[in-house]
Amino acid sequence: MGKQALEGVRILDIATVIAAPWAAGLLADLGAEVIKVEMTGRGDAFRAMGPLKDGKSIRWPSMGRNKKSVTLDFHYEEGKKLFLKLVEKSDVVIENFKTDTLDKWGIGIDVMRQVNPDIIVTHVTGYGQTGPYRKLAGLGTPLQAFSGMTYMQGYPDRPPVSPPFALADYVAGLYAAMGTMVALYHRDALKGKAQEIDVSLYEGIFRMEEAMIAQYDLMGTIRERSPMPSGASCPIGTFETADDKYVIIVCSTNPVFEHLCDAMGKRDEWLPKYAVAGDRLKDPKPIMTAVSEWVKQHTFAELKEKCDAAGVPISTIYNIKDCFEDPQYQARHDIVDVPCEEFGSVKMPGIVPVFSETPGEIKWAGQKLGAANEEVYGDLLGLSDAELADLKQQKII
Ligand SMILES: CC(C)(COP(=O)(O)OP(=O)(O)OC[C@H]1O[C@@H](n2cnc3c(N)ncnc32)[C@H](O)[C@@H]1OP(=O)(O)O)[C@@H](O)C(=O)NCCC(=O)NCCS
Repeated sequence: MGKQALEGVRILDIATVIAAPWAAGLLADLGAEVIKVEMTGRGDAFRAMGPLKDGKSIRWPSMGRNKKSVTLDFHYEEGKKLFLKLVEKSDVVIENFKTDTLDKWGIGIDVMRQVNPDIIVTHVTGYGQTGPYRKLAGLGTPLQAFSGMTYMQGYPDRPPVSPPFALADYVAGLYAAMGTMVALYHRDALKGKAQEIDVSLYEGIFRMEEAMIAQYDLMGTIRERSPMPSGASCPIGTFETADDKYVIIVCSTNPVFEHLCDAMGKRDEWLPKYAVAGDRLKDPKPIMTAVSEWVKQHTFAELKEKCDAAGVPISTIYNIKDCFEDPQYQARHDIVDVPCEEFGSVKMPGIVPVFSETPGEIKWAGQKLGAANEEVYGDLLGLSDAELADLKQQKII
């Protein structure tokens, strides 16, 4: 494997759970050296989070992949000194403690900057580093509710539902990874000042609510709960096929609607009458009914052939088994098998996105707690075996 895009970038991941550690993991996939600093004795809380198989986390191998696990307890003076030595030799710290915690321990940004003025620090918190809620604890699912998104999920006559996994955390992780990269570019390519990046769990989702924000501002409309994205497309929906499968069809653009007319043999009847979305949306019912009946008369295989030929995006609703078995997933190595101590090997998502020259690499699955202590404290910081033994004995590492 040749040089990776982020080779030479060293990141200290002192974070826990999903959002911030996942951000560090995305960068580790693309070649950054990520040192995962974990609480002595118990490690990242994520190691204990289910689902478990034989009492062992099935998620850790993927979440911890490509990271060097070291233990360090920030409650000890010696622990803080070691942390600052690591900061001295690093480019980035990614953290997600509550806003006051690092300062309370005496290792906040000002102290980090004393040992390394060029350190970039990416913070992830529930509500951000400022504002009246800045000191509050945060987890993705309640913060998704705070973002305004949960309100819109589900059916109008039933309570709102949360997503089936920690979406807000992963979205925040993407912004944290992007923010870190932009700060590295600004520091290294533009020779700018090292920055702090302030990521909250709710703003990542809120940033995506563009339509709802403008709709409320300009039209006074509060987007209500609906099982489908609504307001701008027709047809749009989940339709049932002749062989009892559900398919999604959505005509977000007018050309796609024209292609659907071709697939359905409706060009003469529907065009130009319905060529423009605004005209379709004035009374969506006849079109929705016709599409629903057309889908119900065909098997999914027949529909897919017609839609693919005409250029209409269509998919059945996949479960994870379908993803495993699909040739597109296989061709793109979206699911990879990685050796791991706990299970022999475990399947996990491949590297996203795909780079032409520096594709990244999954070098190892999540390590056992403290597996890299000797390498990091010995080789990188130059501690002797006796010093390491002493730190271990005092439970600092
Ligand atoms: C996740 C969260 C709610 C946990 O809160 P918390 O544990 O009560 O409080 P803090 O963030 O102040 O973390 C301090 C704790 O970190 C733990 N910790 C983790 N790594 C540690 C280390 N290397 N050294 C010392 N303590 C460590 C300790 O248990 C410590 O608690 P203690 O001082 O009482 O022993 C909080 O960190 C938070 O809101 N984070 C931001 C949002 C977020 O990222 N949430 C997770 C989304 S995936």
